[in-house]
Amino acid sequence: ERKICLSVVVLGASGDLAKKKTFPALFTLFKRGFLPKNVAIIGYARSKLNIKDLRATIAEHLKGASGDVSRFLDLIAYLPGSYDSAEGFQGLQAVLVTREQQYGMCPAGRLFYLALPPSVYPQVCKGLKENCSEMAAQCNSWLRLIVEKPFGMDLASSEELANQLGALFPEEQLYRIDHYLGKEMMQNMLVLRFANQFIQPAWNRNFISNIQICFKEPFGTDGRGGYFDQFGIIRDVMQNHLMQVLALLAMEQPVSLAADDIRDEKVKVLRCLAAVRPDETVLGQHTAAGSQAGYLDDPTVPKGSRTPTFASCILRINNERWAGVPFVMKAGKALNERKVEIRVQFKPPAATIHNNSLDAMRNELVMRVQPDEAIYMKMVLKRPGLSVEPIVSEMDLSYKQRYSATFIPDAYERLLLDALRGDQQHFVRRDELRAAWAAFTPLLHAIDAGELTPLPYPAGTRGPHEADVLAAKAGFVKTSAYVWKD
Ligand code: BG6
Repeated sequence: ERKICLSVVVLGASGDLAKKKTFPALFTLFKRGFLPKNVAIIGYARSKLNIKDLRATIAEHLKGASGDVSRFLDLIAYLPGSYDSAEGFQGLQAVLVTREQQYGMCPAGRLFYLALPPSVYPQVCKGLKENCSEMAAQCNSWLRLIVEKPFGMDLASSEELANQLGALFPEEQLYRIDHYLGKEMMQNMLVLRFANQFIQPAWNRNFISNIQICFKEPFGTDGRGGYFDQFGIIRDVMQNHLMQVLALLAMEQPVSLAADDIRDEKVKVLRCLAAVRPDETVLGQHTAAGSQAGYLDDPTVPKGSRTPTFASCILRINNERWAGVPFVMKAGKALNERKVEIRVQFKPPAATIHNNSLDAMRNELVMRVQPDEAIYMKMVLKRPGLSVEPIVSEMDLSYKQRYSATFIPDAYERLLLDALRGDQQHFVRRDELRAAWAAFTPLLHAIDAGELTPLPYPAGTRGPHEADVLAAKAGFVKTSAYVWKD
């Protein structure tokens, strides 16, 4: 075992993100033996919390044997301190140094997880830089920071934040987390695309008609209305998570799997995106239906808010591979189901010898990100039996069936481990972020100026019908597999 003295500092330790994601992910890594022996987890937040209470709230979100849980909770310490004065950070530094000296161990690593609203990032990073970045030089120690979106509200504010952080820490120390990059299916994308010889030559405008990237959630803002209303669905999900999906789908093959080789290719394709057009966008806002409240019924949402809880839009990539292939992004809250999936729809054959038209029988490669990871290909095949009628069938891979015993880590677990190992492959580089904002910023400004009106849709439905019209305009043809009747 390589000896290391590791300190993980969770700033914003009493907040929602820390409780629901950061601590549970650390717990799984601990349980599975991925954390070194000499690890300390230090919670830091403004409130004067009692460690017992903090441990109890963390425990509520941990799943595992009680022995593991209590051994993990014992590793957690808590330090109250403010985000804007040196004092608290000096106290934190004292704790860190004492530990590192006590173990006398080299190298030492410090991971700071900022589970905080981005508005305090500049002051927190300043406090950390000035007070907590001195480490024993002879130790070859490392220091890394994980930061969470939202990174700004548009291109200009994102750049401003990036400049502020960039003046304090170099890119190699900044880990911008987008948890979609930690999902199993996202990590599969480059293998699927570049390790299958029959896919490679077809992955372009000559064969592909359109690509759909769809995110659906059955619940509304769930008490997060106050946060959500400032951002809306485009900033919450599309500009980051779905944009990363698009980058992985559309990028060229990287030179290698090295973090910067991958990110170079992602940036390159994102920079080919045209700005999303308001006339190729549909917005929606959910109204009350059944037992579900409407968006405007949430008391934390300002009266008369026009923030979209649903959006669908067309993204266009101006390069040799993708010119003319619409990428349709759709995301919505309070819809009829929980599902994230990608549909790559192919063109029909140019000529047919069959009686039926093949236009509605498209090859479609479907990647289901969640729930229940799956990949299936819609194929046109002969109907079994005496007839030679072509029908659509599915060649399918369901992870549950084929890989049932495999442990599929949660996205946060995987990404935290990457950060501990110093692998930035699945973290968003500054220039990627810039390109992602550039594509959406004109549209967001038009929305903020009230130029687009969200269409009402009842909670629990598929969202506004106009989104289906938009998808059809982009060339999407609904292709249903033949339902077998024995
Ligand atoms: C978050 C958004 O980044 O992603 C949430 O802020 C959204 O609004 C969530 O619900 C979706 O993540 P997942 O992993 O549940 O698909």
